[in-house]
Amino acid sequence: MNYFKRPHAFRRWRFWLSLSVPLLAVLWLVWHGVTGNQRVYSGGQVSPAHAVLATKCDACHFEMAGFFSAKASDRACLACHDGPIHHANQTFTPKCSSCHEEHRGHARLAATSDAACTQCHADLRTTGDATKFVRDIENFGSGHPEFAAVRPGSIDPGTIKLNHAVHMKRNLAGPNGPVQLDCDDCHRPPTSTDAWRFGAAPAAAIPASEKSGPTPQKSDRAAMVLARAYMAPTTYAKNCIACHGLQFDKRFKESVPHDTPEVIHAFLTQKFQQYIAAHPAEVRVTTPVPGLPQKPQPAAVRVLTPQQWATERVADSEQLLYGKTCKQCHALSLSAGAALPAVAKSNITPRWLPHANFNHDRHQMVKCTECHAALTSHETADILLPGIATCEKCHHAGNDAAESRCFECHTYHDWTKAKEVKGKLTLSSLLPGN
Ligand code: HEC
Ligand code: HEC
Ligand code: HEC
Ligand code: HEC
Ligand code: HEC
Ligand code: HEC
Ligand code: HEC
Ligand code: HEC
Ligand code: HEC
Ligand code: HEC
Repeated sequence: MNYFKRPHAFRRWRFWLSLSVPLLAVLWLVWHGVTGNQRVYSGGQVSPAHAVLATKCDACHFEMAGFFSAKASDRACLACHDGPIHHANQTFTPKCSSCHEEHRGHARLAATSDAACTQCHADLRTTGDATKFVRDIENFGSGHPEFAAVRPGSIDPGTIKLNHAVHMKRNLAGPNGPVQLDCDDCHRPPTSTDAWRFGAAPAAAIPASEKSGPTPQKSDRAAMVLARAYMAPTTYAKNCIACHGLQFDKRFKESVPHDTPEVIHAFLTQKFQQYIAAHPAEVRVTTPVPGLPQKPQPAAVRVLTPQQWATERVADSEQLLYGKTCKQCHALSLSAGAALPAVAKSNITPRWLPHANFNHDRHQMVKCTECHAALTSHETADILLPGIATCEKCHHAGNDAAESRCFECHTYHDWTKAKEVKGKLTLSSLLPGN
């Protein structure tokens, strides 16, 4: 039984194969080592945003564990971009790579899993005082709280009276006959440059403060989209002026400026002083004596000084304005001893859901009234915002739905605290072979 000692073609092959395959493998590794290509050791492709680093493993794996590079460290990430902390009172700080999973074939690293958030938010704890936020959130589809702004008991803090139902009705009296208002006659993103249908005619009538702020270039798409996310607050000059003038006296066609009562007082005083100087005969005032309306009454004639005349006309105008015109839209209060009323702050809320992101631009395909019950609202105090059930119609789990993981609507990093990073890489160090 010594046939196995005899040479045989198969056994020779086995010998040479078992020698050459490991040798080839070693040569292959040496070759990649010599050329500096470390991709062979990779756990999978790096994400698209980091594709330029595909041959620069030590940009992330720069700490060494003996001969081998260690796990990617947070310090490596922070050398290229900041990832500011979420909240100062969080109980621990997860590693960057626990949320942003590299080598896993994710198209977007920032599209983190819900687990990245629920590791804390399923049972939210803080280092200091107990949180005011809901403490147990597992996912959006079930157990996510109703948005604070639409919970029972919330009201709109705005003081500008506006009856949406009245203004949206058919054949509303407009400046030149009946009109049908549209939401975008009053609500547009701040970047809109189209003329307002019922705004002040000359552009100069819109205060500089409302026009200010850099207008993003049309080409800067990202900035445009961001700036179009929310609606700009409505203003009198853009949205009300054409139908609600502030006329003060039949002698004048013009309106008072839409400003504080003090400014209006100075304006009126000047107007009437100029008028009486140009029309001196009007200092003779005939005032009907009050009495029974059926009988013709003798009129009392008084001759005033121009100064007296102007003061009386200013008082009449102010009575009209503050008794009727301004009061239609504003809450006015007259404190004891004050000559002029105070106009309440308008308090129009610019952001309703400050703890989440929303973007009107991304929801253009939906009618405004699908999300906002404006057509039936009669009071400013009404909250017109959609609740969570509206969002869940589209944002829910499954392939046939809009994204419903936490990152879609929330920001994790507090970007207001982001530090500028001064890059240290050279272009040549990024090229393969270096
Ligand atoms: C943009 C940063 C980054 C770059 C570039 C990068 N990695 Fe990684 N790598 C990571 C992170 C993050 C992890 C996961 C956390 C950990 O285990 O260190 C990781 C994990 C690994 C692992 C462990 C197995 C795994 O998949 O979790 C290996 C092996 C690895 N990387 C190899 C490489 C090689 C080889 C390269 C170069 C071709 C490379 N990496 C480039 C960030 C990077
Ligand atoms: C050598 C520089 C460099 C290092 C190191 C680096 N990055 Fe990046 N990162 C970039 C560049 C460049 C981009 C693309 C431009 C941008 O979005 O800032 C990017 C983009 C990202 C993005 C946004 C893109 C997306 O797909 O969502 C995330 C998140 C990110 N990096 C996380 C990390 C993490 C976590 C680490 C550490 C494991 C890391 N980066 C290490 C350079 C680097
Ligand atoms: C708990 C999970 C979590 C951790 C830990 C985390 N991130 Fe993020 N990161 C996110 C989410 C979610 C986003 C997208 C929303 C946002 O911008 O906050 C994001 C966004 C980013 C972006 C911007 C992506 C873009 O769209 O431009 C960068 C860069 C980034 N992270 C880097 C880091 C770095 C560096 C660290 C570690 C210091 C880190 N992250 C730690 C969850 C996390
Ligand atoms: C390490 C624990 C931890 C992780 C991980 C974490 N959070 Fe938080 N989160 C907190 C703490 C702590 C607060 C603040 C509570 C307070 O101040 O009352 C908070 C507050 C919030 C708030 C409300 C306040 C705000 O920032 O607007 C939101 C929304 C939120 N987190 C979303 C997320 C999302 C989305 C993720 C995942 C990408 C996440 N969190 C991951 C601990 C965490
Ligand atoms: C489709 C959008 C959307 C998704 C997905 C989403 N949220 Fe929210 N979330 C919101 C909105 C809107 C609010 C209300 C924000 C406000 O009141 O300022 C909110 C509020 C919160 C709050 C504050 C709750 C409070 O007490 O007022 C936390 C914490 C939070 N979300 C965490 C999460 C976590 C964790 C996830 C993932 C499991 C998640 N959210 C997924 C839209 C979303
Ligand atoms: C004549 C101008 C005008 C028109 C037309 C108009 N609005 Fe408004 N809207 C306002 C004013 C002024 C406010 C602020 C006062 C308030 O909160 O009611 C407001 C507030 C709002 C708010 C936020 C306030 C809240 O309580 O939720 C929403 C949402 C809104 N409008 C939606 C709509 C929609 C949708 C339409 C079209 C169906 C519409 N509006 C038509 C003037 C208008
Ligand atoms: C048709 C409705 C309407 C009438 C009438 C009206 N206003 Fe206003 N007013 C507004 C709106 C809307 C705002 C908030 C945005 C803005 O500044 O235009 C406002 C804001 C103001 C403010 C600033 C309030 C703040 O938030 O500090 C003052 C002051 C003011 N009005 C005074 C007047 C006076 C005085 C009159 C009467 C002469 C008047 N308004 C008549 C609609 C009106
Ligand atoms: C197209 C013309 C038009 C525009 C623009 C307009 N209004 Fe009116 N508004 C009217 C008419 C007409 C009425 C009287 C409607 C009625 O009583 O049937 C009215 C009535 C009102 C009333 C009394 C509502 C009630 O409950 O009876 C208020 C308050 C008011 N408007 C505020 C505003 C404010 C604030 C704006 C700007 C944000 C505005 N309006 C823009 C035409 C307009
Ligand atoms: C998919 C639902 C949805 C649709 C469709 C929608 N909105 Fe909104 N709207 C919201 C949410 C959510 C907010 C609260 C955003 C915030 O302030 O955080 C909001 C806020 C507003 C506000 C208050 C100011 C602001 O930006 O916060 C106005 C005004 C408004 N929407 C008008 C409109 C008009 C006009 C349309 C139609 C062109 C419209 N919306 C379409 C969901 C929607
Ligand atoms: C008609 C279906 C529909 C409804 C209802 C809806 N969404 Fe969306 N939403 C979408 C789609 C589709 C996208 C993705 C659009 C894209 O990425 O261009 C989206 C994107 C988003 C985004 C990401 C925006 C961005 O800048 O990338 C947020 C945040 C969001 N929705 C929040 C909400 C909230 C909050 C509600 C409820 C008030 C809501 N959505 C209701 C369909 C809907």
